[in-house]
Parts: sequence; structure tokens; C-alpha cells
Amino acid sequence: MKILGSTALYGVIGYPIKHSLSPLFQNRLFEHVGLDAVYVPFEVSPDKLRTALEGLKALNVRGINITIPHKEAVIEMLDFVKEDAKSIGAVNTVKFGERTEGYNTDWIGFLRTLKEVMDDVKGKKVLVLGAGGSSRAVLYALEREGAQVFLWNRTKEKAEKLSEIFRVEVVPSPEEVISSVQIVVNTTSVGLTEDYQIFDYELIQEGQVVFELVYGRDTLLKEWAKRRGAIYLDGLRMLVYQGLESFKIWTGCEPNPKVAFQALEERLN
Ligand SMILES: NC(=O)c1ccc[n+]([C@@H]2O[C@H](COP(=O)([O-])OP(=O)(O)OC[C@H]3O[C@@H](n4cnc5c(N)ncnc54)[C@H](OP(=O)(O)O)[C@@H]3O)[C@@H](O)[C@H]2O)c1
Repeated sequence: MKILGSTALYGVIGYPIKHSLSPLFQNRLFEHVGLDAVYVPFEVSPDKLRTALEGLKALNVRGINITIPHKEAVIEMLDFVKEDAKSIGAVNTVKFGERTEGYNTDWIGFLRTLKEVMDDVKGKKVLVLGAGGSSRAVLYALEREGAQVFLWNRTKEKAEKLSEIFRVEVVPSPEEVISSVQIVVNTTSVGLTEDYQIFDYELIQEGQVVFELVYGRDTLLKEWAKRRGAIYLDGLRMLVYQGLESFKIWTGCEPNPKVAFQALEERLN
């Protein structure tokens, strides 16, 4: 990688940020399409978000990804927020220019990954576990596609709050619907911070799609999904696909997914 006076700057802000895989594949994409640009991580604590955004603008940074915990808070600091990001209530992509624009590409990454294993989500019964930030993007995508969604969350009140925004049925336990759904999506951080069976994993059905947003980990849900003959998807493809969409928003170029996956494979293997 060559950094010149002309090199355009992109990046990702989060807290913490050390774990982020985005610089790895975004830099590879810039190289592959032949753009004179570099993508760097910035650790920004919540109390510094506004200052950081002003600083990035002043430094003529062209675009950034926003990750935990800033996706919601950043919204009120932007000049323009695209309709889908408004509905989700979170922004993961910012483009700087005459105005500072916010987008959400998480839901696109989620849907693109899901559609790799099924043509149509319309009418499919889906159980979504979790009611945090990523759940909102998943619920938006599923509603848009016309799926029938059951929502469970450890803290029921949060699930009920989401049911006021999205067309979902809140269920008291995953076991209530697990045998009747075609898709299970785990948007909780179980598997990342700690790992245990959120519900009785023996109830996973053969052929069910089990999609876990956590990535690059051997979770209990992954182990059981495979043991029970389910189709397992992990969050890595979603991560790459949301990143490809951000790249398109910033540069107008269509990046090659294979290049991004190759960069990650080299690192993760
Ligand atoms: N692949 C990707 O591109 C991608 C994108 C975004 C996020 N993610 C991953 O998705 C996960 C969630 O992220 P987020 O932004 O949605 O986090 P978040 O807003 O903090 O929400 C966390 C969710 O997990 C639940 N939870 C936490 N600990 C739990 C436990 N011990 N038992 C049951 N539920 C528990 C919370 O339930 P309560 O409401 O009861 O606390 C809440 O529903 C993380 O692993 C993150 O890395 C992946």
C-alpha cells in the first residue's frame, strides 16, 4: 500500500475497535479497484463522538463505517439520513461531502446472505432472537420481504417496544415456535460474550436455516445447527456484504465480493 499526498481517507469508528475486520477487506477492495485510498480504524469513546465527526470532516475524510456503540447516537449529528436508516434507527455508513449523509447497509448485508440459501423470504416463518441494534436491521429486512416474524428477547419489554415499530409477534419463549419456523436468526450477543443454549438446541429441525450474526466463532448454536442437519449461516458474509454496500455508497464502484472474502480467509486461516 502506498500513501501519497493525494490518498483519500476512509475508516471505521467504534469503541472498542481493535477487533474490527473491516480495514482488512476494505483496504484490499481499494487496492483491487485501483483507487488511491486507505481505510483506517478509529477508536472513539461515546463522549467524543461529535468531536470526532467534526474532526473527520475537517480532515477531509471521505467516508466512515460506524459500529457499536455509535450507530444510533450518530443519527442526530447528520445533515441527511436515508429513509431505511431512519426506519431502522441506526446508521452504519457515513459519507462526507457538502452534507454529511447517513445510510444503513446492515439490513442489505443480512438479506443478501439469507438469499444465498433461499430464493424468496416472502411468507416464510422466522424466529428472531434478540431486540438490540442489529435486531432492528434484521426486522426491517424481514418486514420488507414479507416474512412472518416471531420475536423473542431476554428482556421482554424491549421486544414489545420493537413490536410497536415492526410487524412482529412477540413470543414468551423460543420453544413456543421453534418447530414451526423455517428460519432462526440469532441477533443476541450470546456466543460472543458468553455461550449457552438460548433454547433447547435439540429442537432445531433438519433443513431449517440458522443464521447467527456473530462471526468467526465456534458457538454452541453453530455446533448444534450442524449436528441437527440445519443450514448454518454466520455473520461473516453479512459483514462483508454490508461493507461492500458502504464501499459502493462512498465510491460509486462495484467491488468484487471474492476479493473481500479472500482477504478475510487469509487472515482467519
Ligand atoms: N455480522 C454482522 O455484520 C453484524 C452486524 C451487527 C451486529 N453483529 C453481532 O450481533 C450481535 C448483537 O449486536 P447488537 O448491536 O444487536 O447488540 P446490542 O444492541 O447490545 O443487543 C444485544 C442483544 O443481545 C441480548 N443479550 C445479551 N446478552 C444476553 C444473554 N446473556 N442472554 C440472552 N440475550 C442476551 C440482549 O438482550 P437484552 O435486551 O435482554 O439485554 C439484546 O437483545 C453481536 O454479537 C454483534 O457482533 C454482527
